[in-house]
Amino acid sequence: MEKGRLLYEGKAKRVYETERSDAYLVEFKDNATAFNGQKRGQIEGKGRYNNRISEILFGFVEEAGIATHFLRSLSDREMLVRRVTIIPLEVVTRNIVAGTLASRVGIAEGTPLKRPVVEFYYKNDDLGDPLINRSHALALELATMEQMSWLEETALKINGILQREFSKRNVILVDFKLEFGSLADGSLLLADEISPDTCRLWDAASNEKLDKDRFRRDLGQVEEAYREILRRLEG
Ligand code: TMP
Ligand code: ASP
Repeated sequence: MEKGRLLYEGKAKRVYETERSDAYLVEFKDNATAFNGQKRGQIEGKGRYNNRISEILFGFVEEAGIATHFLRSLSDREMLVRRVTIIPLEVVTRNIVAGTLASRVGIAEGTPLKRPVVEFYYKNDDLGDPLINRSHALALELATMEQMSWLEETALKINGILQREFSKRNVILVDFKLEFGSLADGSLLLADEISPDTCRLWDAASNEKLDKDRFRRDLGQVEEAYREILRRLEG
């Protein structure tokens, strides 16, 4: 599959056109950013790890009957995906308090939630991706009422699938972010990526962080954490 025109370059990925009008090529980069791009760095091998980890996790989601944009792997850092129009919402699901939820509600990081929390963030770099609620999303016409309900239900289903698969591998799924896209016929697909960049993953025995928080918080052993997640998923 030939790389066509570069359509979009984000912080962690590049998206290219291909010879197929219904498919894009996604290339995963080693670049890492945090705090809306204020902190920048490189994580050696991250592009390869996230490409393969996303492929495996999209596979679990597909097996459970939820459609994703993933078509096939093209190389160690490239995948072919279905062409979708991204819904400008980041859908975050949380099982344990961490990150911005800890500071927002004043509960210590690591506290389990009585039930999962689903949050919506407006995908807008200039605004720093603010937290919004369902009525904001409807008023701003980011999604319809039906889509908002589907997004929440589907995020919770994916949470169940990923929690189960990670738990078999002694990993706790603390929280994660999903993005969805629509096809011309209006159907919705899981898009973007699922990786240690977009999930908080803790070792079940030690609570050691095995995700991008090692980069965000300067904890060291960043590449090792991504490699360990892939090792457990492949093992
Ligand atoms: P938060 O606690 O910083 O709001 O992050 C919640 C989850 O969303 C966490 O698993 C990391 C993920 N995330 C992204 O994938 N992209 C982002 O830009 C941010 C801020 C968080
Ligand atoms: N990827 C986001 C950014 O640069 C934030 C994050 O993952 O923490 O800024």
